[in-house]
Amino acid sequence: MTTAAEQSAAIPRSYLHAVKWTVPIFAIGMLRKLLPLSFRKALVLRLAKSRLHGLYRLTFLLLEDFSRDDPSGFQKFLWSHHLGHAESYELNRRFGKSNLEPTRRLMLERVAAELRKQAIDPETDVQSALDVGCSLGHVLRFVETEFFPAASVLEGIDLDSYAIEKGSEYLRDTGSKASLACADLSSLSKTIAGKNYDVILCFGVLMYVDEQTAAQAIKSMLQHTKMLLAVSTWPHPEIDNRSLPQSVPAPGLVKNRADLMDGVLIHNLDRMATAAGGKIVSRCWTGAEVVQGDKPLYYLLVRP
Ligand SMILES: C[S@@+](CC[C@H](N)C(=O)[O-])C[C@H]1O[C@@H](n2cnc3c(N)ncnc32)[C@H](O)[C@@H]1O
Repeated sequence: MTTAAEQSAAIPRSYLHAVKWTVPIFAIGMLRKLLPLSFRKALVLRLAKSRLHGLYRLTFLLLEDFSRDDPSGFQKFLWSHHLGHAESYELNRRFGKSNLEPTRRLMLERVAAELRKQAIDPETDVQSALDVGCSLGHVLRFVETEFFPAASVLEGIDLDSYAIEKGSEYLRDTGSKASLACADLSSLSKTIAGKNYDVILCFGVLMYVDEQTAAQAIKSMLQHTKMLLAVSTWPHPEIDNRSLPQSVPAPGLVKNRADLMDGVLIHNLDRMATAAGGKIVSRCWTGAEVVQGDKPLYYLLVRP
């Protein structure tokens, strides 16, 4: 007679793995059909409080229809509740030189190089900067210590109130001049009315809002930029984003193991910046090619 252990040893590992995932995915699929969206959203928020292991994937499975039907509403739900990819934005994982993503550092180096080209010394001449979608304020802090030490105004806005609160506490304790506020970029012009900044940064944010909101945000940012706007978002893997006639959903196109792409949009930022009267002075599109072991890149440096 064969034991259960012998029987399972005879079953190929890949089969066991498939069964292990297929059953819960099937069950969650059934739940998705049976339960209204409002209930599933409330369930995700409840599970988030219990710090359930595997919530990241479960959230995407439970709310798959939401991400498909209303990508930016879905992303707004996730980020404003510090869910999904937001879970990786914690103080110990983001602050400090060694934690800064290589592509962020690279873009900041290009910003500094572009300013120097315009006879602006980033170390002494940049007095103010705004980071749109700043999360904890980790990029702002890096900018403060490494790039714009003379800046007296360093401000950030983000939808994620948890990140704003944690980041603000940390920045206060480290003696930083940076200040953060909770705001949605869809009302950016109201939030920063009457203010202008030498440099505005917006890294990895606009892919979470729809085309019209992204275009309006670029317009507002340019209206409030004195020297340079730096903006990055997800690149289309095959077509240079500047050739896209319209924004397209990332799922199915982008194969990225680190971030789930549900609800992410791929935009043509070049067209948005030009339509808003900006002058693109530098740009980069790497397609699917990952830069410095981090991510693929699509960014623009734009003068107002
Ligand atoms: C991938 S993270 C990037 C964070 C930071 N810019 C960086 O470079 O590390 C995207 C950020 O955009 C924010 N975000 C998404 N949608 C937003 C919106 N509508 N208004 C303001 N912030 C938003 C999220 O809360 C999140 O902190």
